[in-house]
Parts: sequence; C-alpha cells; structure tokens
Amino acid sequence: MTMDRRGFLSVVGGASLAWPRSIEALARELQEGGAQDDEAFWSLVRQQFLVPADRIYLNNGTLGPSPRIVVDAVAEHVRRVAQTYPPGVAWMDLKAAAAHLLGGDPAGFVFPRNTTEAMNFVANGIEISPGDDVVSTDHEHIGGLEPWRLITSRRGASLTIASLPVPARSSDELADAVWATVTPATRVLCVSHMTFTTGTVLPVRELADRCRERGVIFVVDGAHPPGMLSMDVGALGADFYATSPHKWLLAAQGTGLLYLDESWWERLWPTLASGGWDDLSLGAHRFNHLGTMDESRLAGLLASLDFVQALDPHRIEARIRHLRGLLEAGLREIPGIAIATPVAEVLKGGMVSFAIDGVESAALQRHLSRVANVRTRVIGEYGYGWMRLSTHVYNAPSEIEHVLTLLDDVARNGIPA
Ligand SMILES: Cc1ncc(COP(=O)(O)O)c(C=O)c1O
Repeated sequence: MTMDRRGFLSVVGGASLAWPRSIEALARELQEGGAQDDEAFWSLVRQQFLVPADRIYLNNGTLGPSPRIVVDAVAEHVRRVAQTYPPGVAWMDLKAAAAHLLGGDPAGFVFPRNTTEAMNFVANGIEISPGDDVVSTDHEHIGGLEPWRLITSRRGASLTIASLPVPARSSDELADAVWATVTPATRVLCVSHMTFTTGTVLPVRELADRCRERGVIFVVDGAHPPGMLSMDVGALGADFYATSPHKWLLAAQGTGLLYLDESWWERLWPTLASGGWDDLSLGAHRFNHLGTMDESRLAGLLASLDFVQALDPHRIEARIRHLRGLLEAGLREIPGIAIATPVAEVLKGGMVSFAIDGVESAALQRHLSRVANVRTRVIGEYGYGWMRLSTHVYNAPSEIEHVLTLLDDVARNGIPA
C-alpha cells in the first residue's frame, strides 16, 4: 500500500499554532519576502526548527537539523506502522519531488541510506578490472573515497590521488589539477562536487565533458550541494551523483539519494539483490528493492523536499551565501586567520574553513562549545587541521557576529586556560 500525496500532506500536522498545519500552509505563509537580509522572514523560518535558541549550530555540513514538519512526517509514519497500517512509500511522489527540486529524470532517482551507501553501490556495481585506474583527490571524504580503495584493492586495480590547490583560484586550475592525473588507464574519475574540507566547488560540468570525450566513468560525490545550491543534477552530465539529504536538504538522519544517468539503469550491477534485481524493465528502481527498511525516513525526505521547495532553492542559496559572506568577511578582518576556502564566489557556497595562527582547531572547537554552545567541525582528516563553519537558513547574523567576536578574542589573546 502506498500513501498518496493528499494523504501525506494531511498527516503532516503542527504541534501548536506557531507551526503551519501543512507544507501548503507553510508555503503560503512564506510566499512574500525572503530577500537575503529580510530578517523578519528568516526568523519565521528559524521558528520551523527545533534548534534551541541558545544553540549556535554551524555544522550543517555534517548533519542538517530537520524542521518540525519533517520530524512530524517521520513520526507519523512510524505511528502508522505501529498501528499496523503502514502507509508504504510514495515512490512516484518522492521521485517527482526530487526531480522537481534537483532536476534530472524522476526515474533516475534511487534512495539508499546515505552518500556512503550510494558510493558503495556504484563502486561495486561497475566492472573494475586489474590494470584499471580510479582517479580521485586529496579532499575526498571517507564515504566517497573508501569504496574505491576497497574495490581497487580487491580487483587488482589502482587508485590515483590528484592534489587540489588550496585555496583554489579558479575552476580551470581545479579542472587541470584533477585532469593532470588522468591517463589511458583511467576507468573512473570520482570527485566531490563541493569538498567537505574547504567547501570548494569543483567544475563538475567541465570534468563531465572531458570524461565523456575520453570514455571515463564520472562519479560525483555530491554530499553537499543539493539543498545548498540551486542545481540541475541532469545537466551536470555525471554518470552517477550521490548525496545525503540529511545534510543541506534537512531530511532525517540516514536518508540518501543516488542519481543514475539513464545509460546505467540497466547496466549497473545491484550490490543488494532482492526480488526484481534482474528485471531490467524496472530500470533504476531495481536499486530501491532493499528488503524491509525504515520507510519513515523516506516520508521525511518527501516532507523535506517539499519544505525546501516551499522556501525556494534560490532564496535558500542567497541566504546561505549571505550568512557565509558575513562570516567570511569578518574572518578576513581578524589578524592571524588563514582561510582555506577560495575567494571567488563561484567556487564556494555555505562553508568556510580556516585556521588561527598558533591555535589548535580542536582546542578552539572545545572553547566555542564551552563558552557559547557553538557546534563546529574540525577537519582533522589528512592532517589539514582546519575549523569548518557552515551556515544555513536557520542561522542568524547575530549568531555569526557573536562567533566572530569570540574568534577575534582567541586570535588576539589565545584560548583562556
Ligand atoms: C563530501 C562528503 N562525502 C560523503 C560524506 C559521507 O556522508 P554520509 O555519512 O551521509 O554517507 C560526507 C559526510 O560528511 C561528505 O562530506
């Protein structure tokens, strides 16, 4: 049994008068305004979240807090299962909503648990042979890189790591740095659309063109851009695009998304075999046959896609950039701060990474948490040691100002004992 759209919308109820009763009501309420600095509008948006007023959450890059409307959709689904009337998954609605927001063909969307699982589905599902080379970069997250390390080790293939410039100055510089490592043995190129390390946007469209010319399979770890940048996943030209809607799309934890170019719907080997794995008429939907699973997170995903759509991806991107811009401008004025995120706006979005001269980022993280309940991310991977801050629609300029004041103090006086 599957729940239809009308049924879904009617169960997404509000807990108090402050909360709109449905996505449609919310969309109506948020129709007007929403300029990047329209604080009245964004404070109404903040009210849709459960983040406590005294919490400064600057780590959306790891996990996005779900708005109440998403939490309610998940809870309602769980309740119905417990009542023995599981609503099922509204697959058609889910795919249509994903395509409406992110572009692409609705039939190309698959819903694993996260980017890590999606990348494993891809790495395991294409044929990698001894002698093949997979190219990636020194700014990949383990979730995007380890599947390739495993499969190349297992198949007797090799893995080549391109070194990216920091901070990057142009898309051409980034494209050339990656492409310099591509050889006739390259079978797969896998890069992040936006690096988790410095929030740098890679020129995926340009790389897709180069890959197509050379017959290289192009896989994009898109954990970050969906929900942060307005985009068209179909127009990017990748063979596979994986993301984690529990980040910038604000879905429930454990909600993934994989977009397959049509040329792979019948060609990719399923990693998990269940009924219909070899029924090619199912196309990419074969990869949604995963056995009994937590369908509530998919109910939540549908609500989060609707939420983002109601807010409007263009307004969201502008607000995210505005807040990151305030943060970055302030950081650039503090003595002793080195910023690893590029200067050019086209090369970044909602994350900024930096280090304070003489200050260990992990100690800074503890300090910010202790004195102001700020949640941050330290990029300890590869020994980089940056502090990364992310901004999203629930953040406010006053939070940014507060954090900048604290950082300025640390840069000048160090961390108090
Ligand atoms: C670029 C990138 N890829 C992959 C992942 C892994 O995401 P998940 O844990 O949702 O699979 C992350 C998580 O932070 C990430 O930043």
